[in-house]
Amino acid sequence: MFILGIESSCDETGVALVQCQGPGVPKLLSHALHSQIEVHQHFGGVVPELASRDHIRYVTPLLMRVLDEASVPVTRLDRIAYTQGPGLAGALLVGAGVASALAAALRVPITGVHHLEGHLLSPFLSSNPPTFPFVALLVSGGHTQLMCVKDVGNYVLLGESLDDAAGEAYDKSAKLMGLGYPGGAALASLAASGDPERFVLPRPLLHSANLNFSFAGLKTAVRTQLMKLSLPAMPSDLADLAASTQAAINDVLVKKSLAAMEQTGLQCLVVAGGVGANQDLRARLDRACLLKNIRVHYPEVEFCTDNGAMIAMAAGMRWQRGLLTEAKGYGYGVLPRWSLQAVTAAAPL
Ligand code: KG4
Ligand code: ZN
Repeated sequence: MFILGIESSCDETGVALVQCQGPGVPKLLSHALHSQIEVHQHFGGVVPELASRDHIRYVTPLLMRVLDEASVPVTRLDRIAYTQGPGLAGALLVGAGVASALAAALRVPITGVHHLEGHLLSPFLSSNPPTFPFVALLVSGGHTQLMCVKDVGNYVLLGESLDDAAGEAYDKSAKLMGLGYPGGAALASLAASGDPERFVLPRPLLHSANLNFSFAGLKTAVRTQLMKLSLPAMPSDLADLAASTQAAINDVLVKKSLAAMEQTGLQCLVVAGGVGANQDLRARLDRACLLKNIRVHYPEVEFCTDNGAMIAMAAGMRWQRGLLTEAKGYGYGVLPRWSLQAVTAAAPL
């Protein structure tokens, strides 16, 4: 069973091929990714129309490369999976259109995958995959959620950000510091040489009784600190501010993750989404979890950010459990706003 996965929800075009054989985790045969950072950098954020055009440009060459690298002819494909949402409507439509056309030509089924389910199941792409059930800290550019993942398609939301996502907090703070877009990784590398205790920044909802987050106030605090610095800001001042910002965001993520482990009584934590690539977050979680005897799993850095492999993997794991319904015909629709709760086991795709 060969499943092709296509991801085009935002600013990365990803294509991947997995093979499902027996009950084990589907095997990733090949994957390819094109990042649009250069296209959008100049504008300081994603320009949806440019994103759609760039997906159109790259999706077919990536698809050819993936099949070529796996030495699997296109006629051997058994199913085409694509990100159906959430994401940018125009960008999603590119992946959906290509998936539908290819599936129609091959007379194989198509499957729309929830982007966040892809992130949640991305740790299964690693050589040391977790086992169900686990708590997932999903930290991407648009979402910050703690989920109880009981099995494929069985997700319970434990808490989420009431405003900005952690990735947004990284990106907006980085933009204020002149680090460009997307700023998370740039802020993290600047933070490596800074003092995380130099600036006192807010840690909203750190002591609240629930598992929700709030990061919107952080960028205002960062702006206030920046305005107090003499201009032009010294590189060491910026490094200290970056380190303090990173510490404030990660402190909250670690504290709430531990609270989620305590609430659920589970012993396995999975970190997914682009912010999961942050090394300081990983180090803090590792230290905290070691003390509590909690296992932590991280996807490989290349599978933390958006990619096609997680979409093919999610479709493969659903297929193995009989959670894919056969789509009728090759019409397709995208769901730019789509709650993960809508794809729980009760609602197969
Ligand atoms: O999951 P993702 O690729 O896209 C979404 O689905 O949103 O996550 C992108 C986010 C961006 O906000 C980016 O700045 C952040 O992940 N990010 C990081 C790092 N690498 C990517 N944030 C902090 N540290 C990093 N090393
Ligand atoms: Zn994502």
